[in-house]
Amino acid sequence: MKIENINPRWFKFSVLFLFMCLSHESHVCFAVDTISTNQSLSGNQTIVSAGGVFELGFFRSGNSFNYYIGTWYKKVSRFTPVWIANREKPVHDIYSSVLKISDGNLVLFNESRVPIWSTNVSSGPAISSSVVAVLLDDGNLVLRDGLNSISSTILWQSFDHPTDTWLPGSKLRFNKRTNQSQRIISWRSHDDPAPGLYSLEIDPVEANHIVMVWNRSRPYWTSGAWDQQTMSFSLVPEMRMASLSNSTYNFIYFSEENESYFLYYFYNSSTTAKLFMDVSGQLQQMSWLEDMEQWMVQFSQPRQQCGVYALCGAFGSCNEIGLPFCSCLRGFHPKSETNWNLSDFSDGCERTTRLQCEEDPNFVTGKTDKFLESPNVKLPERAQAMSVGSMLECESACLEYCNCTAYAYDSDGCRIWMTELLDLQQYSGDTSDGRTIYIRLAASEFRSSSNNNGIIIGAVAGGVGLVLCLVIFAILRWRRRRMINPTVEGSLLAFGYRDLQSATKNFSEKLGGGGFGSVFKGRLPDSSIIAVKQLEGISQGEKQFRSEVSTIGTVQHVNLVRLRGFCSEGMRKLLVYDYMPNGSLDAHLFLEDNSKPLAWKTRYQIALGTARGLTYLHEKCRDCIIHCDIKPENILLDAELCPKVADFGLAKLIGREFSRVLTTMRGTRGYIAPEWISGVAITAKADVYSYGMMLFEIVSGRRNSEQNEEGKVGFFPTSVARAITQDGDVLSLLDPGLNEDAPVDEISRICKVACWCVQDDETHRPSMGQVVQILEGVLDVNVPPVPRSLLVLANNTEHIIFFTESSSSPSSQTPSNSSNASS
Ligand SMILES: *[C@@H]1O[C@H](CO)[C@@H](O)[C@H](O)[C@H]1NC(C)=O
Ligand SMILES: *[C@@H]1O[C@H](CO)[C@@H](O)[C@H](O)[C@H]1NC(C)=O
Ligand SMILES: *[C@@H]1O[C@H](CO)[C@@H](O)[C@H](O)[C@H]1NC(C)=O
Ligand SMILES: *[C@@H]1O[C@H](CO)[C@@H](O)[C@H](O)[C@H]1NC(C)=O
Ligand SMILES: *[C@@H]1O[C@H](CO)[C@@H](O)[C@H](O)[C@H]1NC(C)=O
Ligand SMILES: *[C@@H]1O[C@H](CO)[C@@H](O)[C@H](O)[C@H]1NC(C)=O
Ligand SMILES: *[C@@H]1O[C@H](CO)[C@@H](O)[C@H](O)[C@H]1NC(C)=O
Ligand SMILES: *[C@@H]1O[C@H](CO)[C@@H](O)[C@H](O)[C@H]1NC(C)=O
Ligand SMILES: *[C@@H]1O[C@H](CO)[C@@H](O)[C@H](O)[C@H]1NC(C)=O
Ligand SMILES: *[C@@H]1O[C@H](CO)[C@@H](O)[C@H](O)[C@H]1NC(C)=O
Ligand SMILES: *[C@@H]1O[C@H](CO)[C@@H](O)[C@H](O)[C@H]1NC(C)=O
Repeated sequence: MKIENINPRWFKFSVLFLFMCLSHESHVCFAVDTISTNQSLSGNQTIVSAGGVFELGFFRSGNSFNYYIGTWYKKVSRFTPVWIANREKPVHDIYSSVLKISDGNLVLFNESRVPIWSTNVSSGPAISSSVVAVLLDDGNLVLRDGLNSISSTILWQSFDHPTDTWLPGSKLRFNKRTNQSQRIISWRSHDDPAPGLYSLEIDPVEANHIVMVWNRSRPYWTSGAWDQQTMSFSLVPEMRMASLSNSTYNFIYFSEENESYFLYYFYNSSTTAKLFMDVSGQLQQMSWLEDMEQWMVQFSQPRQQCGVYALCGAFGSCNEIGLPFCSCLRGFHPKSETNWNLSDFSDGCERTTRLQCEEDPNFVTGKTDKFLESPNVKLPERAQAMSVGSMLECESACLEYCNCTAYAYDSDGCRIWMTELLDLQQYSGDTSDGRTIYIRLAASEFRSSSNNNGIIIGAVAGGVGLVLCLVIFAILRWRRRRMINPTVEGSLLAFGYRDLQSATKNFSEKLGGGGFGSVFKGRLPDSSIIAVKQLEGISQGEKQFRSEVSTIGTVQHVNLVRLRGFCSEGMRKLLVYDYMPNGSLDAHLFLEDNSKPLAWKTRYQIALGTARGLTYLHEKCRDCIIHCDIKPENILLDAELCPKVADFGLAKLIGREFSRVLTTMRGTRGYIAPEWISGVAITAKADVYSYGMMLFEIVSGRRNSEQNEEGKVGFFPTSVARAITQDGDVLSLLDPGLNEDAPVDEISRICKVACWCVQDDETHRPSMGQVVQILEGVLDVNVPPVPRSLLVLANNTEHIIFFTESSSSPSSQTPSNSSNASS
């Protein structure tokens, strides 16, 4: 590996800088990448790597006055530290704390001049006077003997001591001599860089696996074995895609005599991207999108947030579709609300009411405690099996012990838990994995609801006058609510939250839920019907939110759902759209009984209209809008079945959370362009890919990766590619419900366009404008090459199918060879 070699050109550079500093006779000079002997870094001084990529200095985290020495991206406008020296020992006054070379080490002294962090390499007296610390453009901070120029050895480097980030070019090591893995450890919370519970390391037993571990002891995710052939891990098949396209990053495994390690780098060195352990226990790959000024999560593992072990701590419950994911079990509350609010759930929950037996150990019958039935959960680990024959006996067995917290009784018999409940997951919807657990609570917890009733009954009995007052008050409130009085802001209406609450009858009629939040039907006083979207996880400030929303409001096209207004009151952010009576395209395409399939003509118009809407987004409005989430669920149909693209512009609005939405979605659907996975910047061609995938579904009337009659997982685009490249029977591709009632040339045209849209290389995909012209018949379309690979995430087992038909070299081909008007 070359990372330890110092680029000679760069080296001359820094020596030059050093020289300039010295000749200025200034004690401190910080326009450089180097800290040398007799220099110290303090206050707001920083050093910057030679190419201006990384910066090192003090930074503050959270609302406390905790300061840390760390490195971050110099050019990325959202502050993102990648390495921290003193992650466990913050300083509080940066002007009296110093980072300097001392006795051959880089040392951080706190306010009392006590060394609190050191590179701590044993150094001979000979080199201590010429040791320098240099920040390199790959983010590595190295300590080396400065006078020995090019041949100088690295005494210490930050790449060997990562915090939560695994930067491109650094190694994730396993030391075979000591059996020690190097660990990349998450922050404790978003505000606290101290080591958290989750770490990434090489599996000490099988060194070609990477594992994620909870509390340094309990593995909860494994990559599977590294396969040199496909350059991917057996359980992370997405990587195979990236290796195949071979245009983005390279992941490498080395096994040597004394150590083995993984390493990755991006082919394009100007890619700003990194792998890191998030506080959520997920390994994420993020890329910086300069245009959107945000980090986009490209990849995260485990795919399911609740797959992270014990995410919600003791007596917490993880729910994959909840936001936040964690909640306390009933009868419990967060141990530390502050940490809980910062998404640090590791403290878990504690009882609101102590158990009877805890209150009074001598109390003979601990039996006054009761059990709360919690169905459809994943049971916690560490249960003890009891050999009893009935549910009642199982319950009694639990009550025997004061430290028994729960029991379960089903076909697997009786099990009781004598510990805190860890890693309990609440399933939603039907799942065969769901079990029922009975959680022990103080009996008074069960009375609390009837207590409330008692109070109300008492109040009613207590005074009719009071009731009258309440009634009048309620009527007044109700009348106030009825008066919807939105103000106009630009082209948009600004609603009050109350208005929308009333218009939607307190959000009672749910139309759907999507990645961005639930949608409710409502009616305005002018009796127009609206769809109200309750946005979740908005990370933006008020001003930015309004500015983004008004931008979306100016984007108007017959094939785009019109935004009519919004509501922004504190955390409550809602968008108000025109209501689309015919719902979304998926409901019309993927029919259970095939009773009323959409006519071919309608399908063609939907394909064309959608393409026009996207063309407008990509090319015609002032700033190009990439939709990022094209799928049948986001194509709405008005009363005349005219298609309207929904949810555009939300990517920027949602910010960080959007990444999560995409990540979740990516695990289950095949609409995502390969570049999402591989980490390059996303362009409008990613929408083209998703649009192409949707075209296949419009033709076939079923999900691309559905199981066929024989129970095999087929992939429809594969059949299409075969049929159109080998002059197959295109009619056979058509939705069987249509009884072959469609013009062959139109089917063939749509299938060819679809194949062009899903080309691996985005430069081979047409623009949406070209797609419109082809569908309009203005442009002819060539037979496309079969895309080299198509990745299918068929159903939830995330099964991957590649098809390997030989493909003609697509390099010089473009989708249209002429602009003959063919009609
Ligand atoms: C650092 O300071 C010491 C004493 O103040 C001096 O002897 C030494 O030459 C200085 N080193 C450099 C590199 O300036
Ligand atoms: C650093 O601090 C000094 C004094 O506290 C201030 O004058 C200067 O503007 C600061 N520099 C930066 C880059 O913030
Ligand atoms: C500096 O660090 C030492 C050792 O950790 C600690 O005892 C001392 O209180 C710290 N000084 C300040 C001002 O925090
Ligand atoms: C340096 O290492 C020694 C043992 O190797 C350890 O006791 C000491 O705490 C370390 N010092 C710092 C500042 O990390
Ligand atoms: C490392 O692990 C291997 C196999 O697990 C074992 O044979 C070896 O003795 C261990 N070495 C040390 C230093 O623990
Ligand atoms: C993590 O493990 C340590 C012992 O290794 C234990 O003391 C600590 O309580 C554990 N943390 C949690 C959150 O369970
Ligand atoms: C991938 O790229 C590397 C270096 O650019 C090249 O050597 C290799 O042959 C490429 N592999 C494939 C499958 O195209
Ligand atoms: C492995 O370590 C031994 C002992 O420290 C050393 O002699 C050998 O050169 C090392 N091997 C490699 C490949 O670095
Ligand atoms: C590398 O990435 C930068 C920024 O993303 C881009 O401008 C440049 O064209 C890319 N270079 C290559 C060779 O792809
Ligand atoms: C935590 O968040 C809740 C709801 O947002 C809030 O009511 C509570 O005051 C917060 N608690 C702390 C300690 O920040
Ligand atoms: C639970 O209590 C029983 C007896 O009271 C005791 O034997 C057992 O060790 C306890 N278990 C735990 C995990 O504390």
